[in-house]
Amino acid sequence: MAKKKLKAAKKPAPKASARKVVKLAGKKSPAKAKAKANGNGHLPRMSSKPYGQDGKALTGVRILDFTHVQSGPTCTQLLAWFGADVIKVERPGIGDITRGQLRDVPNADSLYFTMLNHNKRSITIDSKHPQGKRVLDALIKTCDVLVENFAPGALDRMGLTWDYIHKTNPRMIVASVKGFGPGPYEDCKVYENVAQCAGGSASTTGFREGPPLVTGAQIGDSGTGLHLALGIVSALYQRNRTGRGQKVLCAMQDGVLNLCRVKLRDQQRLTHGPLTEYSQYGEGVPFGHSVPRAGNDSGGGQPGWILKCKGAPEDPDAYIYFITQAPVWEPICDLIGEPTWKTDPEYATPRARLPKLKAIFARIEQWTMTKTKFEVMEACNAVDIPVGPILSMKEIAEEESLRKTGTVVEVDHPTRGKYLTVGNPIKLSDSISEVKRSPLLGEHTDEILKDVLKFSAKDIAEIKNSGALSAPEKKEKAA
Ligand code: COA
Repeated sequence: MAKKKLKAAKKPAPKASARKVVKLAGKKSPAKAKAKANGNGHLPRMSSKPYGQDGKALTGVRILDFTHVQSGPTCTQLLAWFGADVIKVERPGIGDITRGQLRDVPNADSLYFTMLNHNKRSITIDSKHPQGKRVLDALIKTCDVLVENFAPGALDRMGLTWDYIHKTNPRMIVASVKGFGPGPYEDCKVYENVAQCAGGSASTTGFREGPPLVTGAQIGDSGTGLHLALGIVSALYQRNRTGRGQKVLCAMQDGVLNLCRVKLRDQQRLTHGPLTEYSQYGEGVPFGHSVPRAGNDSGGGQPGWILKCKGAPEDPDAYIYFITQAPVWEPICDLIGEPTWKTDPEYATPRARLPKLKAIFARIEQWTMTKTKFEVMEACNAVDIPVGPILSMKEIAEEESLRKTGTVVEVDHPTRGKYLTVGNPIKLSDSISEVKRSPLLGEHTDEILKDVLKFSAKDIAEIKNSGALSAPEKKEKAA
């Protein structure tokens, strides 16, 4: 794609008025008419192949993947699922540090690594070796996007500054995850929980009486990787028009804050009065100056709480999230056996219920405890009451419907055998994701040098003999 697009970019773009004339003068095919009607300015050919059989959304896009640990790999894995050719550059002999972290099978890549690096190819390069630099330069010339999440300054220290990359390949998009954006903390290294704390999540998670809490969902790492992927595809789209690459930056603090948007909303609402949907309001506990932790209160304005079901508390997951949504208050009253609450002025309106939420949830819990979480779900959904069964990871792993949609996938791996992973959560009807196992360290070094970078056999031998692609022990032997 890089070469093809370069040619297109060389052609001077016609002026807007000229483009219009060309469009109007051309014979209108139904596809053209549709594009014009859509007002998107593009006149794509309509594929004649059935859905799912004309490549993938990002077919032809090549990624130089310099990512490691979780945030960056989440991003490049998504791009790979959408069809990009992702070439993961790893340090010889070591590779991505997660290959060896949280190992459950001796001498096999960990699940930490395999579950974040599907559908990629791996090449080992010592990026600080002159011959390694030669390979990297060739990759920069042939790839569309460089993605990295090194500590601040590390890419520059490899000699890969924005100026250098942009001069080498003006079309290249350089996408980075950093812990913080420009400012007092920009040089800090950051991991998941640091970002959750600095992005406002920890201060607003947990119970009022307890300390701040981090959440198990990896909103700092995987969340930022998701944000970065959107930045990259947007930059690719813009490049179609401008012909030039750009920098894409996602700071983990910013990504977490974006996901905590509702809490910044509440911070501002606090200046106009108490947050009435927070249970502390009903309990008469005064608010301070910042948004408090709200336990399991719902963030959407409708009171909610986690209630025990049959089996709790012995079964730690026999719980359900219950929302006393105003529009379904009447069916709730009928279900729990309190029909008089429908008309009783003490209960009939959301405002009247606010000071009594704790007691109301206690009464609903008496009912939920007579049923399993799945029975509660069935009874509630039958009358359009939304509820959330607390599903354990075991239950999710065994859930048939998630297997059917490819959200939970079984993958085979040559050294660790079969394992479960989460497939692409984003489903495109014309770009079907197949989950392919993660690469072994340096598995594709030879094919990338030969088939992608077109180095001659002599050049490949020279690069390899230099030790730029192998672990230090091998270098010593070669010396
Ligand atoms: N060849 C040679 N050297 C390589 C290399 C390669 N292929 N790949 C990496 N290195 C070097 C880097 O150049 C760097 O060297 P330098 O510091 O001497 O310049 C060194 O390895 C370490 O890289 P770094 O990114 O600093 O790793 P770290 O283990 O010290 O820090 C993080 C890890 C995650 C804390 C840090 O990378 C970071 O803050 N990243 C940004 C935020 C982020 O993504 N955090 C979440 C991770 S899930």
